[in-house]
Amino acid sequence: MLIDSHCHLDRLDLSAYDNDLNQALNFARSRGVAHMLCVGITIDKFADVLAIAEANEDISCSVGIHPLYDAVAKTQVDTLIEKSQHPKVVAIGETGLDYFYNKTSENHTLQQQSFRKHIQAARQVNKPVIVHTRDARQDTLDILHEEKANECGGVLHCFTENWDMAKAALDLGFYISFSGIVTFKNASELRDVCKKVPLDRLLIETDSPYLAPVPYRGKSNQPAYVKEVGQFVADLHHISFEEICDITSQNFKNLFVG
Ligand code: NI
Repeated sequence: MLIDSHCHLDRLDLSAYDNDLNQALNFARSRGVAHMLCVGITIDKFADVLAIAEANEDISCSVGIHPLYDAVAKTQVDTLIEKSQHPKVVAIGETGLDYFYNKTSENHTLQQQSFRKHIQAARQVNKPVIVHTRDARQDTLDILHEEKANECGGVLHCFTENWDMAKAALDLGFYISFSGIVTFKNASELRDVCKKVPLDRLLIETDSPYLAPVPYRGKSNQPAYVKEVGQFVADLHHISFEEICDITSQNFKNLFVG
C-alpha cells in the first residue's frame, strides 16, 4: 500500500472527475493509495479540510497556516491547539519559512513568529509538525532548534534543499519527504540527497494539486500520482516498489500515529 503523506484535497482540479472529489479519491485507491494526509494551509479553510477527513476513513488531516498565506500574522497557539484536538488531526502545519517569494524582513519576521507558534502548539499537543522551507535554511534550522522541535518531531515536506540541510533535520529526528520534484529532469542534486536519506526516515507525497511527477509534469497533480513518486524513489534506492510502499507506510505510521 501507498500513503500520500501530503496533499491538498480541498484544492484539487476535479474537472476530469465531474467535479466529484470521490472519483479522484477512488482513482487513487485503485492505484494502491491506502491513506492520504490532507494538509491545512489556512485557518479559514480548516473546516473544509476536516470535513474531507471526517467523510473518509482513509484520510487524516492537519491544521496550520502556510508561511505564504497572509494569515501568518494571525497565528494563535490556542487556536491551533483547540483545532488539533479532533481525532482526525494528526499533525500541526503546514508551517515554516519561505523567503523565495517575499524578500522583506517585515514579512520574514511574521513568518518566523508564526513558525514558532506552530512548534509551540505541536509540543503542547504532542503531534508532529509539517514544515515547508524554501530559501531559508539557516533560519529554519535555528527555529527548529530554539523551539525544541525535536520534542514533537516532524517532517520537512516537499524537500528541495541540500544534503547539509537534510542531515541537520535528520539529526533532530525529523523525516524527509520527497514529492514529484525528485523526478524532474533538472533535479539531479536532489536525487543525490534522496539517495542518502536513510530508508527509515523517508516519506513520499504528491503535494497535489501542485508539482505533478514525470510523466504528468505540468498537469494538475492528484494523490493517485504518489505511485510515480514511490516507484522513482524505489529505483533511486535500488529497492523494489513493494519495499518502498512498506517502508514509507511504516514511517508514516511511526511519525503521525505514534
Ligand atoms: Ni503543501
